[in-house]
Amino acid sequence: MNTSWPSLTEQIFACQACPLARTRTHVVPGEGNLHADLMLIGEGPGEQEDRTGRPFVGPAGQLLDRMLAAIGLTREHVYICNIVKCRPPHNRVPEAEEAAACIGFLRQQTALVQPRIILLLGSTAARTILGEDLRITRDRGVWHLKKGIWVMPTYHPSALLRDETKKRPAWEDFKAVRDKMIKLGIHPGNGEKTEGGLL
Ligand code: URA
Repeated sequence: MNTSWPSLTEQIFACQACPLARTRTHVVPGEGNLHADLMLIGEGPGEQEDRTGRPFVGPAGQLLDRMLAAIGLTREHVYICNIVKCRPPHNRVPEAEEAAACIGFLRQQTALVQPRIILLLGSTAARTILGEDLRITRDRGVWHLKKGIWVMPTYHPSALLRDETKKRPAWEDFKAVRDKMIKLGIHPGNGEKTEGGLL
């Protein structure tokens, strides 16, 4: 896949491939370290993301930042994007056709970033990437090796805000990501384990 960031970004901003283009305020392509070892994929922009054009800046994003910090990472270490780049009205789950219309952008982003690890945040990201049979409660925390990339589904941070009992398993998943990074020799803390209080 021969693409470049400027050309991809231009395509994403100009996209009218699905009805979400008509109701968006801003497209939210994604952001972060363009050579990140860890890529995070969410569902789609919410209200604040639509207003600012930036991914995960609302309450779920603030929680995500705390979870990343607890495993020694900041936004500068990771690349964050979503399955769909435009906000679904009233934050509804994106339709399969909308995800399908947008998936080529995600493929190109992945090809450009070349992450070693992908963390799928929530059911929409997990099912889009790993298959519709996936059940996030049952299948979270399990590693999949896909085209040489370690992929793990976990709960979406919004789900943790709605249901406190999901925080502990999510923390286990984040620790597993940290351990995988250490094992692959890519944790910025040089292998030093940090035990976060978290959440
Ligand atoms: N939820 C998501 O899935 N993505 C965002 O960017 C914000 C909230």
